[in-house]
Amino acid sequence: MTKVNLLDNGPIVVVGEHTITHPDGRQEVKPSRASYCRCNKSANMPFCDGAHKT
Ligand code: FES
Repeated sequence: MTKVNLLDNGPIVVVGEHTITHPDGRQEVKPSRASYCRCNKSANMPFCDGAHKT
């Protein structure tokens, strides 16, 4: 089962296989785990790069 964890003042962490659909329609499969930025500070959107800690 895929799980979604909302970290306090941090990213959305998805654990388990899932597919991302980017704004341009491109799809990307993540086989195990990925952290998604929700602070809009990441230089590697849509992924969290730790910038929320600054
Ligand atoms: S949530 Fe980590 S950089 Fe945005």
